[in-house]
Amino acid sequence: MVEHFAVRGGARLSGSVDVVGAKNSVLKLMAAALLAEGRTTLENCPEILDVPLMADVLRSLGCTVTIEGPTVHIDVPADPGAEADYRSVSKLRASVCVLGPLVARCRRAVVPLPGGDAIGSRPLDMHQNGLRKLGATTDIVHGSVTASAGDLHGAQIWLDFPSVGATENILMAAVLAEGTTVIDNAAREPEIVDLCVMLQQMGAKLEGVGSSTLSVHGVTGLQPTTHRVIGDRIVGATWAFATAMTRGEVTVRGVDPHHIDLVLDKLRSAGAEITVGEHEFTIVQAERPQAVDFVTLPYPGFATDLQPMAIALSAVADGTSMITENVFEARFRFVDEMVRLGADARTDGHHAVVRGRPELSSAPVWASDIRAGAGLVLAGLCARGSTEVWDVAHIDRGYPRFVENLSALGADIARVAGEPER
Ligand code: UD1
Repeated sequence: MVEHFAVRGGARLSGSVDVVGAKNSVLKLMAAALLAEGRTTLENCPEILDVPLMADVLRSLGCTVTIEGPTVHIDVPADPGAEADYRSVSKLRASVCVLGPLVARCRRAVVPLPGGDAIGSRPLDMHQNGLRKLGATTDIVHGSVTASAGDLHGAQIWLDFPSVGATENILMAAVLAEGTTVIDNAAREPEIVDLCVMLQQMGAKLEGVGSSTLSVHGVTGLQPTTHRVIGDRIVGATWAFATAMTRGEVTVRGVDPHHIDLVLDKLRSAGAEITVGEHEFTIVQAERPQAVDFVTLPYPGFATDLQPMAIALSAVADGTSMITENVFEARFRFVDEMVRLGADARTDGHHAVVRGRPELSSAPVWASDIRAGAGLVLAGLCARGSTEVWDVAHIDRGYPRFVENLSALGADIARVAGEPER
């Protein structure tokens, strides 16, 4: 069924909102379950489509997966299959994270490549080079990435760039390799720390967790575990941006504010008052936000996944902002949709210059990916009239109960079924 979100701008968000487990964590944790025979249970999982899609990928490898609301049980057989089913994998880019666990467990993996992406090219060269250093041979054959290894041995691996996916795949292969692997220039996103914590509970021996030098002392086997997924910092930060843009007052619960220190600091510069607790924060924005500059970088830099929210905030801020995108080259494509909403925004290569306006004006717009979609809805909250955001399936993949949460905070938003007039 085709659906859109109808957003009428002008409401000031207020109240509180609960954030559940991180999409970018749960999918990797589900893959990590493959590393141990038996039942692994994940709690605080977000109820988004990507979780059942990942469950299908694991089922295609012989696992039994039961989803009971926010709890996911994964029963892994003694000998999981090594070839992921094309139909399951093609729907979910993140499913490439089964590569490392399969190489570790089966010493062989065939994982179809998910294909192009709206935010830019997503090659696997660093994933493959890391696996080669561990002793695997790997190639891309008939649209699938293949890997096989007789023995896996520890190695020193320097990543060209702190890639989240490459760090995860190499880490999950190295935990069952013989000897010590050191991943230098490793990504250190909170979701990687979450994965490390779960692997340690399973019996993995790791050092340097949360740093850019991650050491993995291989073990001969791991045990299944029960683990609670960390709160989604990108969702939590999205609520913070929405509050700042609508001059609201919102308490966001279920996310560690330290995971978004830099984001909250930027919003303070924009005029927000923010108080933080252990797993929550409250943001109050009294005046129109001031323009601030944003530069996306690997963690602890400003997350590329929040760049659309930065553009949306800048579009209604007082002053001119420069936004620099350093992670995904095509991530500014959605800016044309922001321009339809009246944003005064211009992009040139890695940079966008946005001159803030007091108000935007509604239009039909199309979400090209999860975060672009959320950014467009945020812009719609500050637009005169009723904005239609189409292709909301993207937003549903990353934001559980998005419309319900925004409505509860006072936004005028509804999910509407029916074809676009375009
Ligand atoms: C993950 C997140 C995504 C987030 C991104 C960066 C998941 C499911 N997705 O994606 O939401 O935007 O981290 O924080 O967790 N690259 C290469 N070769 C490689 C691997 C990556 O050139 O082998 C490049 C990519 O093209 C990109 C950059 O490295 O320009 C960062 O990619 P990476 O950190 O790997 O992102 P993902 O793990 O795909």
